Amino acid sequence: MPINPVFLNGKWLSIDQAMISPLDRGFLFADGCYEVIPIYNQKVFRLSDHLQRLEYSLQSLGIDSGYSNKDWVELFSHLVKQTDDKNYKSYIYLQITRGVESKRDHIVKEAIVPTVFCYAENTATLNDLPEAISVTLQEDIRWHRGDIKAISLLGSVLARRQAMDEGYDDCIFYRDNEIVESSSSNLFIVEGGVVKTPPLSNWLLGGITRLVLLELLEKYRIPFSVEPISVEQLHHASEIWLSSSIKELIPVRQIDGQLISNGEMGEVLKKIWDCWRQYIHSYSENQIESKLT
Ligand code: PDD
Repeated sequence: MPINPVFLNGKWLSIDQAMISPLDRGFLFADGCYEVIPIYNQKVFRLSDHLQRLEYSLQSLGIDSGYSNKDWVELFSHLVKQTDDKNYKSYIYLQITRGVESKRDHIVKEAIVPTVFCYAENTATLNDLPEAISVTLQEDIRWHRGDIKAISLLGSVLARRQAMDEGYDDCIFYRDNEIVESSSSNLFIVEGGVVKTPPLSNWLLGGITRLVLLELLEKYRIPFSVEPISVEQLHHASEIWLSSSIKELIPVRQIDGQLISNGEMGEVLKKIWDCWRQYIHSYSENQIESKLT
């Protein structure tokens, strides 16, 4: 549940007062993008990376938000103040759509102002590694621009729902026998002691958690490789985990009913989880909330 007040088009409102026109292109065409930015101990996590990705999404959609990085920082610092210090981990949700038009039309023929919606939400306290999940493999039915953090998430929503209807927690997408990512997270495997993750492309989102994990693998000299991963490699992996801003690292225990390493928690994941925790701890202690790093 968003913490009140939320930010909508320059105003701070309670969530039930925040109204959007049905002619908003986000509502009519899913014409917009979003960001999910963690806050640790009231410090915005990897702000410059998230703003860079936001800019990439906006540019890819040809939307000029009218907000500068300074404006975002100012807005986020208001949201950060709302978050609960005791709660420790929270996140910012930011959504920008192309705006409201006077009549539904695929092509915008008038000058419209983007809709900007933003709020903070508290989640759990800093916790242990999330429980391991079971996943199913599914052919990737999503569009060809997974690199844009677009609000049009129907492909992911349908895939996840199908996975859950079949008794799994989530799905992992493949395309032409190559593993892509999960419905709302990136993916890592361990093969022969080497951590592997698929390279960035138009098929998947450049996750900020993925980016930080790659930096940590490098820093702690854990062997890793960014390379295509086949469906067969996934099935033979000794460890698999997912990564995202909200869930951080999520161990995968089972694929299509097949246990990975007898369902035991992997040694490499244990190590990277410790590195991650340490990183988050020092980040939240040392960074000032509005600093662009
Ligand atoms: N999802 N891939 C997809 C398709 C995602 O939706 C996400 C994030 C990621 C991981 O990106 P990051 O590490 O920057 O969170 C990868 C967010 C959390 C969501 O939609 O709620």
